[in-house]
Amino acid sequence: MKLNPWITAIEEEGAFFVLDKALAMKAAGRPVINLGIGQPDFLPPEHVLAAAEKAARDGPHGYTSPVGILPLREAVADKVGTRYGVDVHPDEVVIVPGGKVTFYFACLLFGGSGAEILYPDPGFPPYREAIKSGGARPVPYPILESRDFGFDAVEVLSLITPATRLIIVNSPANPTGGVVAAAEMEKLAKGLEAFPEVAILSDEIYSHLVFDEASFAGILQFPNLRDRAILLDGWSKTFAMTGWRLGYGIWPKALVEHVRKLITVDHSCVNGVAQMAGLVAITGPMDAVERFRQKFAQRRDLVVDGLGRLPGVTCRKPGGAFYAFPNVSATGLESKALAARLLDEANVALIAGDSFGDNGRGYLRLSYAASTAELEEALARMKAFLDASRR
Ligand SMILES: Cc1ncc(COP(=O)(O)O)c(C=O)c1O
Repeated sequence: MKLNPWITAIEEEGAFFVLDKALAMKAAGRPVINLGIGQPDFLPPEHVLAAAEKAARDGPHGYTSPVGILPLREAVADKVGTRYGVDVHPDEVVIVPGGKVTFYFACLLFGGSGAEILYPDPGFPPYREAIKSGGARPVPYPILESRDFGFDAVEVLSLITPATRLIIVNSPANPTGGVVAAAEMEKLAKGLEAFPEVAILSDEIYSHLVFDEASFAGILQFPNLRDRAILLDGWSKTFAMTGWRLGYGIWPKALVEHVRKLITVDHSCVNGVAQMAGLVAITGPMDAVERFRQKFAQRRDLVVDGLGRLPGVTCRKPGGAFYAFPNVSATGLESKALAARLLDEANVALIAGDSFGDNGRGYLRLSYAASTAELEEALARMKAFLDASRR
């Protein structure tokens, strides 16, 4: 059989590989603590569950509009518009099954041979694979610890060539938890005025998980980019609904017809139950979301303190999301080997930093979406392992 090389070249996301391995070990009776996969360990808010139950009975049961039911698009437009003080029209909102779909479709739309797409390194691995499968060349830009895991706008702009069609940015970020400073985003937005053909996709899936006074700027706050900015967000991380597969993109109006066509080829529409639940989630009270945020902030402090006490490990305090990205280079172990040994010998699942790009070498990603007891136990196991490996 002859297969499409764009597709066979795709690499599976490391977090899912580790998830499968950790689940198999657990099923075999091993006491694995899984800090690998990035998903909230909370239940969705009760009123959202009730809405889903009702929708499972009352519908909609058939196909909906490919871009999503109108009340949901209106609610998203209203919520996002109010949040950033801008006008968002429901026709710019496209409901999709999860956050990933928005950047995947953007990579198809801006791809093709000869195109280049810029993406963060370390960054969410599916960006690179989506770029490759759309036929464009992935061009990484560095996210460095010395910049508090943000980017340098001047450096990003310097990587633009006549072939560049799209820049992907992500803040708060996976895998580092870094929040790009508003001033740096502004510099990028200003600099992009010199490159009117380059679009920007801002992955803001963790935008409700910003801690302290970390300055977060949403892409819609830059009116000069409005006609070429794509905002990616969704319900997965904000409402603890990762398995529901529900996300949205806010697209420049001119692009929506193309996204709509891709949807009709790909998945027709998002299931009606998830859409109805999503509607209640974003129009209802946000106290559960705030509770999740505060819980994550407490766990972040616990994890960053604990990691800082491990031999050979240092960890910056991340400004958002639910990931810590400790620097383990002084342990004397390569991050891939260290992650593999922590799973095999200490029953702690985490992800090697280089799974997220070359600049992640020397780091681990730890998802602190786990209970305090699990986090404390994982830190104790890591300490015992690292103490023993020093002897
Ligand atoms: C940065 C980032 N964007 C998008 C997603 C995908 O979200 P979803 O599960 O809604 O597809 C994730 C999930 O881990 C993520 O970390």
